[in-house]
Amino acid sequence: RDIPVFDMVIFGGTGDLAMRKLIPAMFQRERAGVLPDDGRIIASARNPMSREQYIAMVEAQAASYIPDAQRQEPAWQRFLQRLHYVAIDATKSEGYATLQETIGKANGKIRVFYLATSPKFFGAICKHLHGAGLVNERSHVVLEKPLGHDLDSSRAINAEVAQYFSEDQIYRIDHYLGKETVQNLLVLRFGNTLFESLWNQKYIDHIQITVAESIGVEGRAGFYDHTGALRDMVQNHLMQLLCFVAMEPPASLDANAVRDEKLKVLRSLKPLTMDDVKNNIIRGQYTAGAINGKTANSYRKEEGIEPESQTETFVALKMEIENWRWGNVPFYLRTGKRMAQRVSEIVVQFKSVPHSIFDNRSTGLEPNKLVIKIQPEEDITLMLCGKKPGTGTNVRPVELSLTASSEEHIPDAYERLLIDAIVGRQTLFMRRDELDAAWQWVMPILEGWNNGVGRVEPYVAGSWGPSGSAFLLARDNRHWYEDL
Ligand code: BG6
Repeated sequence: RDIPVFDMVIFGGTGDLAMRKLIPAMFQRERAGVLPDDGRIIASARNPMSREQYIAMVEAQAASYIPDAQRQEPAWQRFLQRLHYVAIDATKSEGYATLQETIGKANGKIRVFYLATSPKFFGAICKHLHGAGLVNERSHVVLEKPLGHDLDSSRAINAEVAQYFSEDQIYRIDHYLGKETVQNLLVLRFGNTLFESLWNQKYIDHIQITVAESIGVEGRAGFYDHTGALRDMVQNHLMQLLCFVAMEPPASLDANAVRDEKLKVLRSLKPLTMDDVKNNIIRGQYTAGAINGKTANSYRKEEGIEPESQTETFVALKMEIENWRWGNVPFYLRTGKRMAQRVSEIVVQFKSVPHSIFDNRSTGLEPNKLVIKIQPEEDITLMLCGKKPGTGTNVRPVELSLTASSEEHIPDAYERLLIDAIVGRQTLFMRRDELDAAWQWVMPILEGWNNGVGRVEPYVAGSWGPSGSAFLLARDNRHWYEDL
């Protein structure tokens, strides 16, 4: 679809996300030659700055996220021409008048307001945009995560935003849904008869979802120490991945068709009791260690972190979906910072064959696994059993890669999602009721932790997390796929 002429206003335009992800993603779309000539990006932040100063800032900061060679291309100068800057104090109406002048009269352009600020400003920004007459039927608002810090605050934010934008104008972003392999998961599941017929409790033993990072808090201490891994990663990214793995086939890729199915998954999650919180939810915090030969500080010694902080940098959990497809199939999820390596993957482990006709000494009769690797490489591998060449009948594991090797540019998640927000495709964005359902499921964990249920287990930076995480699977006679 052609991209309509747009004004994209980025609140938080000088922030980390804008510099690291949003600006580079829009530049990649520039290089692809798909942006319309008059499309503009209007950055906004509190500090007064001229347009030239902002461009200089982008040039200086983008250097780490855009290869030098690409910045030598004519596309770079063309892209810089699209950038504008307006100083706005989000909570005061004055700056919005200047924004109004910059945007000009209703001109048929799509307006995308990207709110990459703290969520506590979302309500005020929407109110002031509306007050300045900047919201019309061609306006979309993109809300960055985290949307609140619990169910009540998330509801309050959604209610405020809903006063000025209708649901079909609101784009709640979860960038994990923009990742290439996550899209591929949809094609794999619903473009093949092979998998869908096996995709249930009859054939699947369990499912693992891992999002492990090797980085620490990276200068985001102020945000992270009040947030923790449960709110930062589990409530959104991991639960969204879970929805894509577990949902029923939607009737189409239409936004509401897909979101209806995801919502059903979230509503079928087995509610957590305090016993579950104690036994099935593991939280950890990293201590000093080494990753790839480099030493890493303990979390509590990171700059800006409270020395006695109890914030979790790791979560592992076991959950169940109470419906016909998934009855009794455990889902194990884990995420953490400063782990052994950066890897995000979904592992679907099928059941063992019911009876082995092979020699007991023949090793390698492993259950089939489908390993969907999201990063660092994008790859889908089916692990099967094959015959070991030779005169005996020995079994050995064989791997079938389902990823067409490609030299093509794999777009960053934000490239896809920013364009979707401009053209008005909501399929990969979360609807209000989904967010609500995800928070509802998470709340007993937050409440339990607040009341001292369980404890934060230390784990050494560079490891796979605290021992409780391995035990969570070991007690079910299973193990995490990566930690062999
Ligand atoms: C963000 C979290 O949403 O996702 C970060 O706030 C985390 O803490 C990041 O590092 C991970 O994203 P990606 O795309 O690098 O896996």
